Amino acid sequence: MEDFFKMTDIFMFQLPRKIIFGNGAAAKIGNEARGAFVGEKAFLVTDKGVAKAGLVKGVMGSLEAEGFKVQVFDQVVPDSPISVVMRGVELARQGGADLVVGLGGGSSIDTAKAISFMIPYQGDIRENLGINQVKKPGLPKIFIPTTAGTGSELSHTFVLYDDESGDKITSYSPHTFADMAIIDPSLTLSLPPRVTAESGIDAFSHALESFVTIRANPLSDLFSLRGVELVSKNLRKAFAKGSHNLDARYAMCFGVCMGTMAIRSSGIGAVHATCYPAAMKYNLSHGVAIGLMMPSVMAFNLISNLDKYAAVSRIMGERVEGLTTLEAAQASVEAVKRLIVDVGLPTRLSEVGARQKDFPDFARTVMTRYAHHVRALSF
Ligand SMILES: [Fe+2]
Repeated sequence: MEDFFKMTDIFMFQLPRKIIFGNGAAAKIGNEARGAFVGEKAFLVTDKGVAKAGLVKGVMGSLEAEGFKVQVFDQVVPDSPISVVMRGVELARQGGADLVVGLGGGSSIDTAKAISFMIPYQGDIRENLGINQVKKPGLPKIFIPTTAGTGSELSHTFVLYDDESGDKITSYSPHTFADMAIIDPSLTLSLPPRVTAESGIDAFSHALESFVTIRANPLSDLFSLRGVELVSKNLRKAFAKGSHNLDARYAMCFGVCMGTMAIRSSGIGAVHATCYPAAMKYNLSHGVAIGLMMPSVMAFNLISNLDKYAAVSRIMGERVEGLTTLEAAQASVEAVKRLIVDVGLPTRLSEVGARQKDFPDFARTVMTRYAHHVRALSF
């Protein structure tokens, strides 16, 4: 691996207490939970799609085999609205839950994070939103992702939608890390191509942004480059023939872990900051909005660190022999654009109905509400 070692600011690294990775890992939840927690009532947070795909049964069976009673809450919807979180909290309190399990995509896991800290908390949930505002650790929590993209299972970030104010609020706290994250690539086999594409491009952006952000450091670089490599080499395969290619799914899940681990140390950057206003205005998924912004943000930023963008080109398999460092760096933008196009996502704002007159407003929103992403997250 190339060495980008340089003097950096003090950096740190924080993850869930335990990570279990591998095909079939989800079936170990009962045993692992029994060994780690004193309790008997698990509150399983998921959505109807995951339940319909038959993924709840195995997790439930494993917990029940170890003596846990399992209460299933399958009302999660995209964007994790506060009203849904509070419905879950009420049911979990009534059932006497002492363990929270989040099973699904980012919305299920974010909803589970909020339910976990709200069960013992008597005040308003809004008092816990924002940076480091969660007052106390909640119930023990285990997260099992069924998509390969958000990395929410390894992060302390959660995004909730306030149905009263209409705001989407990004929050994080040391208390919202999982006690245990179980990543089982076989659960992602049946993901539809579109979901694979959107979550895969998001995962790629995490690996890339964490590599070039101003808080990148020698530790995050290790994870970032491996994430860029794994996602760029496997996303097309997982998209085209994912239900038959467990190797590609395994590599994608591992690539997601790499990017998420890198973010934990270095933060993300302007691709994420710029994607939020467009996603809200045109009702785009996070992955689509990321794909729209990523090539332009890369093209704008690349003069700040040509060596790193050139390394991205090389690791993505671009032919860079004989090119200058600037040309090699520029090749990374085209390589990323091709990846986005190959998995069927748009690369032009006009393709999603964006209008130029909206852009000044977007810029203002980015520089006020999302400036922390431009500066990169701090713990
Ligand atoms: Fe993201």
